[in-house]
Amino acid sequence: MDVFEAIYQRQSVSKVKPAAVPRELIEQLLNAAVQAPNHHRVRPWRFVVLQNSAREKLGEVMVYSLQSRKAEATADDLQKERLKPLRAPVIIAVAVDKPVIPKVQESENVAAAAAAIQNLLLAAHSLGLGAIWRTGPAAADPAIKSFLGFAPDQHVIGFVYVGYPETQPAPPKRPSFEDRTLWLD
Ligand SMILES: Cc1cc2nc3c(=O)[nH]c(=O)nc-3n(C[C@H](O)[C@H](O)[C@H](O)COP(=O)(O)O)c2cc1C
Repeated sequence: MDVFEAIYQRQSVSKVKPAAVPRELIEQLLNAAVQAPNHHRVRPWRFVVLQNSAREKLGEVMVYSLQSRKAEATADDLQKERLKPLRAPVIIAVAVDKPVIPKVQESENVAAAAAAIQNLLLAAHSLGLGAIWRTGPAAADPAIKSFLGFAPDQHVIGFVYVGYPETQPAPPKRPSFEDRTLWLD
């Protein structure tokens, strides 16, 4: 698929089928992700691929996290939280390495990891997969970071939910760049 076609046609796909995604395709997504630019070549991205019962375990940690954040959460709220990771057969959690040498800026590592996610989303689209980049309070929760193997001060910048789209949505219509651009000569 042409790169412009992928950029223009990609959109967030929240409803996907429960069918598993072959590992080979998931690896293609990760390979696309790591083609992103990254300053000082630190490759600051970290990926955790959750499938099958790992998603249920994540759901349990998300319930624990919601209970600690919101004491008044009802049983219904907790059940909704528990089911969130089951919305797609594959979730790729993306976190960012903390810089270990002074010349590396954390914000640049976050920028590079975000570029990796966009590559991943474009690759998913071109492979006929549906994907959505999600965050929410769970991404900042130390218990969830710990479950995923990350330190409390590491940024988890996204949970990319991936699967085969339930439906083929209409092409997205997006605002122009014009009101966001200043030309200087
Ligand atoms: C950093 C980031 C976090 C996001 N978090 C969520 C989220 O938690 N839930 C959600 O439904 N979409 C989330 N999105 C997806 C955006 O809502 C989506 O990209 C936006 O609505 C534009 O739609 P499009 O991707 O189809 O162009 C997130 C996107 C980004 C870049």
